[in-house]
Amino acid sequence: MKKLNVILMLSMSVLLLFGCSSDTEEEMTEEEVVEVATLQETFGEYFDVGVALSTKTYETYDISLYQEFGTIVCENEMKWENIQNQEGVFTFDSADKIAEFARENGFEMRGHTLVWHSQTPTWVCTVPADATVDEAIEIVLERVETQFVALNERYGDVIFAWDVANEVISDSSDPNEIYRQDSIYYQMCGSDDAKFEYFISEVFKMVESINPDVICYYNDYNLEWNQVKRDKTITFIENVEAYGAEVDGIGLQSHNDISMTKETYASAISDFEESGLFTELSVTELDISVYTSDSQTEMVVLDEATAQTQAEVYADLFELFREKSDFVANVTFWGISDLSSWKDNYPVVGRNDHPLLFDDNGKAKLAYDAIMNFE
Ligand code: GLA
Repeated sequence: MKKLNVILMLSMSVLLLFGCSSDTEEEMTEEEVVEVATLQETFGEYFDVGVALSTKTYETYDISLYQEFGTIVCENEMKWENIQNQEGVFTFDSADKIAEFARENGFEMRGHTLVWHSQTPTWVCTVPADATVDEAIEIVLERVETQFVALNERYGDVIFAWDVANEVISDSSDPNEIYRQDSIYYQMCGSDDAKFEYFISEVFKMVESINPDVICYYNDYNLEWNQVKRDKTITFIENVEAYGAEVDGIGLQSHNDISMTKETYASAISDFEESGLFTELSVTELDISVYTSDSQTEMVVLDEATAQTQAEVYADLFELFREKSDFVANVTFWGISDLSSWKDNYPVVGRNDHPLLFDDNGKAKLAYDAIMNFE
């Protein structure tokens, strides 16, 4: 998984050979090798560093930029709507391109994502009107299995971890509303917490039985700072595991902004570590927006001061990830560069953001230098 960026610099130098008469000058070529450590090389002893790529972004830059990273995840290409939008009709073309890129260049991949309420066609949870909830669960479980078998057959060689379930926890501040109410999966389970937990536990068991080597993750957003959501997540995993399933990893998406602090993030890591429920944690979709308000429409220019603030947040987080490296397994950025980030259209359409380590030209920003320069 380790990549080595070697810059060969050939320098011509004229050496005057001592002991020779002045008319026996000899010209020699000296080869100077300068090794520049990549992100993966620098942090590999602590955790792997990954990047989300799409068919739009995987060929934009010179390969050396991609080789900064050790692992890849598809931004959209392995989501249900792109693999099996219509029941039984599989389209692998886009995911194939990224997987081939991964194989050719020696990257391992995270699989993203299996059970998710979004970017999933409605047929997945549509069952006959007279089906009971228990029957509906069995029908949908079979469909989820078909989907996973297809993905695993095609990409199992290159995928080391799967986001088996994504974003099932409700954002409500009501601690008793554990699950996202508008999820097609939750509704298919009769909006019944216990049945939904059973359903999810069966999905985790199925993935484990088909590919025992894959690391099975639960993945969600805002867990870094939202204590109520974190507590619900822990309850959810306890209940799922009570049905005999094993959830190996917790994925913190980490779509954060420049107000994030090391202390805030640290308590999230501690909560999940102390719960004893997971063998590892991954930062799965990291980006640090330069906006701290979801409603701000005025554009932020990445001037020196803003870039510096962002760099400090990144540096603090990476210091924390290194300190917690016994538990933190992978840190993945949600995009290769600021040229193409989903943050340019979320939460405000057309609001240019600058959330990643590399600028539009693939040039390292201050944030890159800040995380790389540590004692
Ligand atoms: C969530 C999903 C990702 C992606 C981002 C936005 O975090 O898990 O797959 O869709 O939203 O790009």
